[in-house]
Amino acid sequence: MALELSNFENLLNELSESFSRKQLLQHFHIYQQYIIKAYELEAALKKSDRTTANHVWSDFSEQRRRYAVGYNGALLHQLYFENLTGDKTEITSKVAELIDRDFGNAEAWEADLRAAAQIGEWVLLTYNHPENKLQQVVLESNHIGMPVHHTVLLALDCSDHAWMIDHPGHIEDYLDVFLKHLNWNRVNLRLRMVAKK
Ligand SMILES: [Fe+2]
Repeated sequence: MALELSNFENLLNELSESFSRKQLLQHFHIYQQYIIKAYELEAALKKSDRTTANHVWSDFSEQRRRYAVGYNGALLHQLYFENLTGDKTEITSKVAELIDRDFGNAEAWEADLRAAAQIGEWVLLTYNHPENKLQQVVLESNHIGMPVHHTVLLALDCSDHAWMIDHPGHIEDYLDVFLKHLNWNRVNLRLRMVAKK
């Protein structure tokens, strides 16, 4: 398996004006646990008894059902930490062009993101390949709600564990600091790798 734990401790300094050390260290630990669980699940699946498969319950059935909890949890956290930065960046280039085309303007996109953040564990700005457009997607949980043939361009972790230490009960304040530290250069790079000309 290609999942590897990335070190994001550079963010402790880069984001120090907006994210506490305690908040980030707790979140890094959760990210690490997803990697560990993803490996444990893959190992368990190799040995699991296929003859027990059924719709209601068996170890094999649950291991298959829960696969994306660990796998997505690991990769979504990686995408999230990668799209944070201490440098100020702006919406420019291709992503600015497509946000204007598909959401109307950057303000409308941000209003949609802030509303979507109230709903589930993740908000993702994705590139929808079949329809060649940007889309805002909500995942109720790591493994629930990811549309087929979308590529993640921007990952926003809305789980309580991402913000409750620094902003207890106030997700809007967390969204302010997330947007302040969002690395649009990274989002642009992800888009350029997949977008049709
Ligand atoms: Fe998280």
